Amino acid sequence: MNMDNGIFAFRARIFFVLLMGFPLAAHSESIMVGDIEINPQDFSASLDSEQRMAKCLSCHGHHAGGDIDFGPDVRFGTPALRGMGEQYLKESLNAYQAGTRTHKEMSAISAMLDEETVNFMARSFAAYIAPSMKAASELTALAEKDALFRRGQTIARQGISQHGVPACIFCHGPLGEGSAAGPRLAGQNVTYIESQIKAFVSGSRQTVQSASMHPVAAGLTDDDIKAVAHYYESVSEPPVVAGRVTEDN
Ligand code: HEC
Ligand code: HEC
Repeated sequence: MNMDNGIFAFRARIFFVLLMGFPLAAHSESIMVGDIEINPQDFSASLDSEQRMAKCLSCHGHHAGGDIDFGPDVRFGTPALRGMGEQYLKESLNAYQAGTRTHKEMSAISAMLDEETVNFMARSFAAYIAPSMKAASELTALAEKDALFRRGQTIARQGISQHGVPACIFCHGPLGEGSAAGPRLAGQNVTYIESQIKAFVSGSRQTVQSASMHPVAAGLTDDDIKAVAHYYESVSEPPVVAGRVTEDN
C-alpha cells in the first residue's frame, strides 16, 4: 500500500535524523524531523481525530505498535503505545513537559500540547486494541528452545534476589500486560525497553512513579536487561489486529 510506504519512508528519515543528532532550535515552536515540519497546529482541536494523531502515528507505528509495526527485525526504538493505560500515557506526556523525562523530539513535541490535547492523546491512544498474548503452549515451547527467553522469563517471574531485584510481575502483570502498579511491557520493542532501564539507572528518567524502578534497574546486568527485554517483546502476538476500540472516546 502506498500509504504504508509513505509512513515507512517518513520513519526511515526520522531514523536517519535520530542517528545524526539533528540540532533543534531551542524554544522553537516547531521542529524539523528530517524534512518534515512538526508544529502545534498539527495537533489542533480543529482537526478531526485521525489528522490530529497522524504525526504521532508516523513515529509510533501505523497501529501505535511502535517498532513492532515494522517487524521484529526493524529497530528504531520507538515505543508501542497501544495497550498502555490512559493515566500512564497522560503522566508520560506530562513528564516530558516537566522535564522529568527527556528526549529530543518528545520533549519538543510535548511542549506543543496543551492540557486538552494531552488528555485527547492519552484517551485516543489508550483506545487502541492491544495485541493478544501468545498461547500458553507457545510460551512453553519458546522457553524450551530459546535460552535468552527462558532467562528473561525467570527474571520476570522471580526477580534476582541476590541482587535485590524484585519480580517484574508484581507490578507489570503476570505476562507484562500492565496493571495499576506499572505500565504494559508485553510486545514493547527490545531497543526501547533497554533504553528505559538505562534511563532509570542514569537518572535521566526521574518521574515520581519511577522510584519503584530505580532499585530494579540498578540490580540488572546488561545480560539480564537483554534477556528480560527479549522476553517481554516475545510474549505477545505480532500486531495482526489493528484499529481503535472507538473513534473519539
Ligand atoms: C519524531 C518521532 C516521534 C513523534 C512525532 C512522536 N513521538 Fe512519542 N516518542 C518517540 C520516541 C523515540 C519515544 C521514546 C522517548 C524516550 O526514550 O523517552 C516516544 C515516547 C512517547 C511516550 C512515552 C511512551 C512510554 O511507554 O512511556 C508517549 C506517551 C508518546 N511518545 C506519545 C506521543 C504523542 C501523543 C505524539 C504526538 C502528539 C508523539 N508521541 C509523537 C517518538 C515520537
Ligand atoms: C514495584 C513495582 C515495579 C516492579 C517490581 C518493576 N517495575 Fe518496571 N515500572 C514500574 C513503574 C511504576 C513504571 C513507570 C515509571 C514511570 O512512570 O516513569 C515502570 C516502568 C518500567 C519500564 C518503562 C516502560 C515504558 O513504557 O516506558 C520498563 C522497561 C520496566 N518498568 C521494566 C521492568 C522490569 C524488566 C522489571 C523486573 C526486572 C520491572 N520493571 C519491575 C514499576 C515496577
